Amino acid sequence: MKALEKVIILDFGGQDGQLIARKIRKLKVYCEIMPYSTSFKILLAENPSALILAGGPDSIYKDNAPRCDTRIYTLDIPVLGICYGMQLMAGDLGGEVIQGRDQGYGEAALSVIEEGEGLFAGLGNEFPAWVNYGDQVKKAPPGFKVLAQGSHVPVAAMVDISRKLFGLQFHPEDPHTPQGDLLLKNYLEKICGLSGDWTMENFVKNSIMEIRKKVGPDARAVCGLSGGIDSSVAAVLVHRALGERLTCIFVDHGLMRKGEKEQALSTFSGGFKMKIIAVDTADEMLALLRGVSDPEQKRKIIGNHFIRVFEREAEKLGRTDFLVQGTLYPDVIESSTAAGAVIKSHHNVGGLPEDMHFSLIEPLKYLFKDEVREVAAELGLPEEIVWRHPFPGPGLAVRVLGEVTPEKIAIVREADYIIVEEIKKAGLYRDIWQAFAVLPGIYSVGVRGGSRTYAHTIVLRAVTSQDGMTAGWYPIPYEVLQAISTRLVNEIPEVNRFVYDLTAKPPSTIEWE
Ligand code: XMP
Repeated sequence: MKALEKVIILDFGGQDGQLIARKIRKLKVYCEIMPYSTSFKILLAENPSALILAGGPDSIYKDNAPRCDTRIYTLDIPVLGICYGMQLMAGDLGGEVIQGRDQGYGEAALSVIEEGEGLFAGLGNEFPAWVNYGDQVKKAPPGFKVLAQGSHVPVAAMVDISRKLFGLQFHPEDPHTPQGDLLLKNYLEKICGLSGDWTMENFVKNSIMEIRKKVGPDARAVCGLSGGIDSSVAAVLVHRALGERLTCIFVDHGLMRKGEKEQALSTFSGGFKMKIIAVDTADEMLALLRGVSDPEQKRKIIGNHFIRVFEREAEKLGRTDFLVQGTLYPDVIESSTAAGAVIKSHHNVGGLPEDMHFSLIEPLKYLFKDEVREVAAELGLPEEIVWRHPFPGPGLAVRVLGEVTPEKIAIVREADYIIVEEIKKAGLYRDIWQAFAVLPGIYSVGVRGGSRTYAHTIVLRAVTSQDGMTAGWYPIPYEVLQAISTRLVNEIPEVNRFVYDLTAKPPSTIEWE
């Protein structure tokens, strides 16, 4: 079989590496992000087809500036340095890099001097680009030619054809470089000779082979299935590889959305014919939450309960060697690369303890969320699962503020259902990252049928986001708000008021607890 074409992106901090990776994957070339400090030996073992040195927030003149092993320039594979990556390349190979006074970025018109073996093919004589006006390469290193320049950018692009080394002072992955995708495509196709055959169909085929190879002919696996997209796709992939040797455990802690359990069971047990154990622990869960109103304590109780139930059920299965988890690439990147220093507030309640004596199968650990959705479609998962809004491990309990009671859960569950139904009806569901109901536990005075009421308020939270780390509130049209409002107060007798949360994250979070 043909070896997998793989581009390695060395990460120097910031978001640059991830942005480039997503662009390259969209061009159907497989790539991975590795920290700049990756040893030369490990890099060689990866057998990359090409390298990209990503941008980053540092200056090569700073103390402790991130640097990579300079033997990467001798590998005889194409290496593309972008901004910081280019400056590092130039500095390492004897060029002149001047320290900019201005650390800002801006749009510039760049003139192409030479096509550079096809790197600039189709971009025209002049093209707009997002340029770094901070540190700049003033003089390309010996052996390099200047390929493009701008009025304040003496070396906008450079190349040493004989060593296959390229540098760009601008960001092709940035939306302000409209022809950046074409440039990256040229790099992958014309310079690196890559065919762009990394499709989801191939991903599924390869994953199944790899899972079988890893697990061997008779080992058994277990998977905590929540019905969310990540665990669903991971479970279906592993089921394709192992069939009956995979058992899924669905823990219904009584804090799920309306219809969620039924849908998961009918899809996986019915449609996909997977072996699923459904455990109903709602009474146990609510008893544990009785009298607890502190959000962190609630999360801890739910997380621990989930783990205990999972362990209990897994033990009943007898011998189990592997645990399937739906870990995604951003989590892996955040815990292993330079960019990982930034923020990590992931609170995966429902995450399992490390001392469970299972080996892990993480079939999605090199995929971004949008790619997981493509795999889901490839595997034939229903739309409701592919596009379902994210849902936190502690479920509706973090949407009932303060103490959780069965009555409050029932109210917020029904309200959530109405909100989502109206948003779907209005065709807004896919546009919105998450939309849901919150029960703040506020009682207010109202009037219904001529009588005074003293009842609950429902809050609507609807946000846009890329990854849940930051979010903006979604502008739901008035008529949809009107429809939601009418239904909430008409269909839920315990509700007499409806309000809309208009805060971004930060300063708020998406969930209220
Ligand atoms: P916050 O509320 O922190 O949420 O802005 C960011 C994203 O994470 C989800 N979330 C969780 N997901 N376990 C999860 O798996 C959790 O405990 C948890 N808490 C929040 C939240 O729904 C949003 O998508």
